[in-house]
Amino acid sequence: MRCWWRAWLVLLLAFAAGGPPVARAQPSKVSRGVAVPFIFDPRAVCRPPCQHGGLCIRNSTCFCPKGYEGERCQYATCYPKCKNGGRCLRPGKCRCQPGYGGRYCHKVSCEGGCQNGGECISVSGVVKCLCASGWAGSRCQEAVCPQGCRNGGACVAPGICSCATGWVGGACHLALCRLPCHHGGKCIAPDVCRCRSPYSGMQCMKKIKQ
Ligand SMILES: *[C@@H]1O[C@H](CO)[C@@H](O)[C@H](O)[C@H]1NC(C)=O
Repeated sequence: MRCWWRAWLVLLLAFAAGGPPVARAQPSKVSRGVAVPFIFDPRAVCRPPCQHGGLCIRNSTCFCPKGYEGERCQYATCYPKCKNGGRCLRPGKCRCQPGYGGRYCHKVSCEGGCQNGGECISVSGVVKCLCASGWAGSRCQEAVCPQGCRNGGACVAPGICSCATGWVGGACHLALCRLPCHHGGKCIAPDVCRCRSPYSGMQCMKKIKQ
């Protein structure tokens, strides 16, 4: 920007020295507020004024610095252009639509990210997390236990259940009886024995007379 102004100062001095008020702008890939070549009038008035360091070269005509365009140099330009509906905030800086990220909004982004090795993908315009095996949920935050976690157990990692007190086993399907069930009795719930006939009692140790 500083060099740009210095170039203009040289131009102004040339004009003050009696040179013709004609300037040729250097060709640029960036589109400017006016077509080139142009006549430069040092008494020109631009209202509203040129923005972002644009120079008023003729009445109501702004010459915009690199990175800005529009009648009053009011629009920032981004090269490459902001993709996927992103808006150019200032030269080279895009504000992206939700679901997109990266310098030019060219990358899909999943807000909050994808957890547990999930990958952010875009499928026909819909951005979502593609979860690694064993994980599910919008952010891949939920572990999957194909065997199920029964009796109040929680799936804490792929295939791993955290069981409620009194239950064990891969699916929390086995009850725990701290005192054993005798005579073929079966532990069916924490500290609950189901006894075989003719036994009964907490541990199936009482024989019922038949
Ligand atoms: C530019 O505008 C000023 C004031 O509005 C006027 O005096 C001047 O003649 C104009 N210059 C040209 C080249 O039209």
